[in-house]
Amino acid sequence: MTTLTRPNTIKNVAIESMLPAVGGFPPSDRELFLAGYGELCRIDLSGKSALEICGGHGKLATALAEQYPQATVIGLDLYEVSTPEIKQKANQLPGLSFTAGDAFDLSRYADESFDLVFGQAALHHLSHDLDGLCKQVLRVLKPGGRLVFIFEPMGHNYLVAAIRAMRMAKYELVDESNLYISQLERMKFCGFSSCEIQMFNFLGYPMKAFSDRFGWLCKLVQRVDAYLFSSFPKIVRYGANANIVFTK
Ligand SMILES: C[S@@+](CC[C@H](N)C(=O)[O-])C[C@H]1O[C@@H](n2cnc3c(N)ncnc32)[C@H](O)[C@@H]1O
Repeated sequence: MTTLTRPNTIKNVAIESMLPAVGGFPPSDRELFLAGYGELCRIDLSGKSALEICGGHGKLATALAEQYPQATVIGLDLYEVSTPEIKQKANQLPGLSFTAGDAFDLSRYADESFDLVFGQAALHHLSHDLDGLCKQVLRVLKPGGRLVFIFEPMGHNYLVAAIRAMRMAKYELVDESNLYISQLERMKFCGFSSCEIQMFNFLGYPMKAFSDRFGWLCKLVQRVDAYLFSSFPKIVRYGANANIVFTK
């Protein structure tokens, strides 16, 4: 089953404390990140294992390890983590580690070794071989384990498609492509039992440009978006950004 949703705002102090892991992304996407981090924390990860792919500087893996000091959390990216602050956290949190490697080659991990695999701003960097990615992830995920992607651009939104096409033409987005619901449905059929696509940002997408200066306006537009998505379900597919939750 593939479902399109627009989750309600999460009010949870522990999850809000993870928000610095958003890094440089616009404050107007706060609700999307809260929903995404809520998905990472949906089950108690104490004593369990999680793998972040395309983890970049490691902020999100660190935030998750701080939530669950008894969990094993591995951050994987093509490049080594170099930030001193994150390296220090990895020394303090025994379950947290980072490694350089390719998300398309998880052969170093045993079958069914993770309860959670996740990525932030990741899947649209891997979309040239989604079948290959699914094969790798499905092998290392435990039965019932989840694959969660946070903050992915969706090409059904014409404004996203136009802006990103311009940036691609200028070679600003060299290894990226927008995602489409049909691709996510195909991923689901690789062997996941369900796929939830949480859509955000309809009118809110252009607000990103103003979110530093007009925070109040962004919040208002986010509320309008939530109303539009709940009142007119047909427009949910035109959300600009998505969190995607696959369950094995
Ligand atoms: C937009 S950044 C996101 C970084 C981080 N997740 C964040 O939210 O700040 C995309 C990251 O994907 C990594 N990446 C791209 N292709 C990859 C691959 N095949 N395997 C592992 N990491 C990859 C890049 O090195 C980069 O750090």
